[in-house]
Formats: sequence, C-alpha cells, structure tokens
Amino acid sequence: MTHSSQPSPLEARSAGPLTGKVRVPGDKSISHRALILGALSVGKTPISGLLEGEDVLNTAKSMRRLGARVKRTGDVSWEVQGVGVGGFSQPQDPLDFGNSGTGCRLVMGAVAGCPITAIFDGDASLRSRPMRRVLDPLELMGARASSAGDRLPLTLSGARYPLPITYRTPVASAQIKSAVLLAGLAAPGLTTVIEPEASRNHTELMLQHFGANIVSTREGAHGCRIELTGEAELRGQEVVVPADPSSAAFPIVASLIVQGSDVVVSDVMTNPLRTGLFTTLREMGGAIEETEVRSDACEPMAQIRVRASKLRGVEVPPERAPSMIDEYVVLAVAASFAEGTTIMRGLHELRVKESDRLAAAAAMLRVNGVKVEISGDDLIVEGKGHVPGGGLVATHMDHRIAMSALVMGLSSDRPVKVDDTAFIATSFPDFIPMMRAMGAEFS
Ligand code: S3P
Repeated sequence: MTHSSQPSPLEARSAGPLTGKVRVPGDKSISHRALILGALSVGKTPISGLLEGEDVLNTAKSMRRLGARVKRTGDVSWEVQGVGVGGFSQPQDPLDFGNSGTGCRLVMGAVAGCPITAIFDGDASLRSRPMRRVLDPLELMGARASSAGDRLPLTLSGARYPLPITYRTPVASAQIKSAVLLAGLAAPGLTTVIEPEASRNHTELMLQHFGANIVSTREGAHGCRIELTGEAELRGQEVVVPADPSSAAFPIVASLIVQGSDVVVSDVMTNPLRTGLFTTLREMGGAIEETEVRSDACEPMAQIRVRASKLRGVEVPPERAPSMIDEYVVLAVAASFAEGTTIMRGLHELRVKESDRLAAAAAMLRVNGVKVEISGDDLIVEGKGHVPGGGLVATHMDHRIAMSALVMGLSSDRPVKVDDTAFIATSFPDFIPMMRAMGAEFS
C-alpha cells in the first residue's frame, strides 16, 4: 500500500444545490472478479470500465505475480491473458492486498485449487480482519494455511488434488461463497455452497459468462444453493464493468439531503442483491427514479435520477443486510437528516469490515450532534431533520466512513471534518473532484 504517513484531513461545508450528470467508477466487486476469472481462463479477457482504485490494482498485481499477463490498454480499459484453471505459477514475492478483504479472500480461493504456495498480506486494517472464515472451507478442500490463527500475514498452500465439498456458509458472505467456488473450479465433481441468506451473486453470473456449469436455486425463505461443476474450462470473455452502486450511494444520499439538488448518476449496476439501499431510501421518501434500464452480458444497470427529498425514519429488516452491507454508514447519514427514528437491524457483519463500522458510524454521528445508539446488532438513529455538525470524524483507514462523513458535512449546520481522506483512493479515487463538479464545497 502506498499511503504516505501524513494523513490528509478535509472539511465539508453546506453549499448550494448539487446538480449535473455524473458517472461513478466501475463496480469494485465486478472489477476484482473480472481480473481473477480472466487470469483463470484460457485466452484473452478485455475489460472496460475497470475500477482503477488501489484495492483492484492490488488484485491486478497479484494476478501478475501468479503468472497471468495483465495490461492496461487505455483509460479504465484492461486486458488479461489467463493461465487457465489450476495454472497459477509459484509467486516469487508475497501477495499484498493492501486494504482489500475481497481481493485477498477471493484470491485465497483461487490459489487453494492450485499446487502452489503463496504468502498473503495487507495493511494494518486488513491484518486485523478475520480470515478463518475462508480458510476453514479451503482446508476442507485440501489447502493448508500456515497458522491455525485468523489473521494476515499467512502462507497458503493450495491442494494438488482439490476436493469438491458441500459448504453451508455460517454468515451471508459473498467472499466466503466466492472463495469456495473459485477453489471448486479445479476440483472434480460438484462443489456446492448453501447460503442462509443470498449474498451478491456476481461470481456466479460471471462464471456462467466464462463458460462454467453453475446452477443457483433458492434455499428456504431468503437463502440460495449454488452448484458448480468442477474441472471447469473457462474461456476468456469481454467484461463491461457497470458503475458501482456502493459508490453511487454517496452522490445519491448527498443529493437527497442537500436542498434543491437534482442529479443523474449514469450506468449504475442494479442487481437486486446490491440495491437494498435504494429500496430503503425510497421507503424513507427519497425521490429516486431508475430509467433506461438495460443489461449487458452479466449485470443489469440503469440511469438513476435523484432529487432532494424530505426523509422520514424507517425500520430496515435484518434480511435486507446482505443487499446493502456496504451502505449502512451512508444510510445512517440519510437517517440523521430524516424526521424520526431509523432502526437498522442485524448489522453484526459491519464489525468486521475495513473498520468496526458499527462503532465508527455511531461515533461519526455522535461527534456531529446526532443521537445514536447501538443495541446488540442494531443501529438506532434519532433523526431531527437537520444535523448540527462541527465534529472531527475518525476514519479508521475506512474509505466508506470518510466519504459518508464528507457527505454529511454538505448539509449540516456547521462543517464536518474528517481526519484522513487517503483511503478514499481504495474504491473511489475521483470522489472529491466529482463531488466538487456537482457543487460540493470541501476545503
Ligand atoms: C464483497 C462482499 C462483501 C462486501 C465487500 C465486497 C464482494 O463482503 O462487504 O465490500 O465483492 O464479494 P462479505 O463477503 O464479507 O459480506
């Protein structure tokens, strides 16, 4: 990771309405997967719209270290020449995933199906996050991790003869599911993942696009069962990366809370397993319209028009969490500007993100004069229709805390300051200039 040791603080203040048509960068989940599946395929994978954020660039570097040819062919355009399933070569250097849990855990799955040994590492935030959740199933498939512990850095030896397994994920996590499926590509027979609640299905959709035999069926009220036929032969495919709904969340919430705003965010991916935030904001009274709905080979997308709205507090059910897991912090900002109480239920997974997001989000609100409570796994925000502001927010190496706090400052009574904006570059390098172009004031 290349962050300087000097933090970059920034202050956001109220300004005029936000307007214009903007495009946020390519989806982070899809960008990681396009590079990894491209590397596991035979032939070329041209990728357009790739997110050139630090998280994804670290995955690109790792694919190179594992033997794939990865080159940038133009602005947000890349090409991967893959080595085929099971074809990774022994890396000479550690694989450093910086701040990215997704890059790290998905590549652990891909390495687990190859007879090589790799060292996995990351920054201080990633070194504090749990890895046993992926190592447990990967060890059942025959891989071996250097430590029985849970944390990076660690050494992972892939299986020479990976075993297909049936694995019930203990929590709804697309990263665990994807790690098992990527390892299962090299195993003979059926690898099955059963999820208690369906998580984002980008790996499944993209595997199908690359020619794998993969079938998903519903399991129970909210769950999913995925069966992948192993010893798969993936063929390189063109991937068009739509704009990231998790990044679009910031200009969308900003436009809802800054009076008089009217903004269009273009080409946003609208996979229903990612759009829980849009559902919730509409329930709160947010004017959010989707137009020009269309689909490329893998994913649906739309133009999203959002206008400033008077918001009211709502209750967000726990089963919605997987479809908006990365959006609760910015939802808490919207809830602070709403009239009435918003209760967000079932947020235990927020504790193991880039920071303890449950604690960091509550602290962000509190320091800006918003009444907030954590009760078990629930976050309860008392909206008063306005936010006093004036606080200094600790970002804890977490890009989404930094961007949410800056969004809050665009409509609060007094400015909101964040201690460090450096980590915004992991997912949304142009966040500040894009928001300024819409009319935001940062100093
Ligand atoms: C992701 C899955 C989610 C999400 C992360 C991206 C993915 O994590 O929070 O930002 O691309 O698979 P979990 O699998 O831990 O829920």
